[in-house]
Amino acid sequence: MKNTQSTRIAAVGDIHVKEGDEGKWAPYFRILCEEADVLLLCGDLTDTGKPEEAVVLLEELQHCDVPVIGVLGNHDFQSGMEKEVSAILKKALKLLDGDSVVVEGVGFAGVKGFSGGFGRYKMPAYGEEMNKVYVQEVLREAEKLDGALEELNRQDGGLKKVAVLHYAPVEETLVGEPIQIYSYLGSSYLADPLDKHRVKVAFHGHAHAGALKGNTSGGIEVFNVSVPVLRANGFKVPFYFFEV
Ligand SMILES: [Fe+2]
Ligand SMILES: [Fe+2]
Repeated sequence: MKNTQSTRIAAVGDIHVKEGDEGKWAPYFRILCEEADVLLLCGDLTDTGKPEEAVVLLEELQHCDVPVIGVLGNHDFQSGMEKEVSAILKKALKLLDGDSVVVEGVGFAGVKGFSGGFGRYKMPAYGEEMNKVYVQEVLREAEKLDGALEELNRQDGGLKKVAVLHYAPVEETLVGEPIQIYSYLGSSYLADPLDKHRVKVAFHGHAHAGALKGNTSGGIEVFNVSVPVLRANGFKVPFYFFEV
């Protein structure tokens, strides 16, 4: 229940809602509303990015009466209908794409993110034009996250800040995935804004076989809240609860 001193976040990623999933999420959403003040959906909201799948999720979210904040994931782009999917989902949640929102006294900044690799092995924007374009994408996502966090600082320098992503900003939450695909699953370019703005915590999904918890090099806590990761860690209700 709501504690006036803190805000209780429920976070989950990769719910991959499909046609036929009617009734699958509503009971969970009802449970979480008893336990949390805000729900974060960390991308791959739909399975193949079809508007019909977004409509199913929209209906399920009618059973959630706390504010919902989300970012899209790569699967939400699969059908090339991400604009239609976004328009449907925006009826039930605040969809972040390089912007921010303040809920219950906490500032939330979100981006989908992108791949690009980690640390000294992250991909450089060098050589062929296609390589440069590829790396520009993750640099742009990192810049958008930085801008969204900066905007929260402008509003209130003392605001507690939380980041919502789909792609992973750290390697630690990928442990369990094949090491060969780490670079597809996220990028430490995305961790720089988290450290710079000293966010309280960051949540992501995308790495279904990864690990629950990690830290940026600056010590920011990062949680991979992908449904399969929560299941593998023994969570009966697929939400990670975190108090800020
Ligand atoms: Fe996923
Ligand atoms: Fe994904």
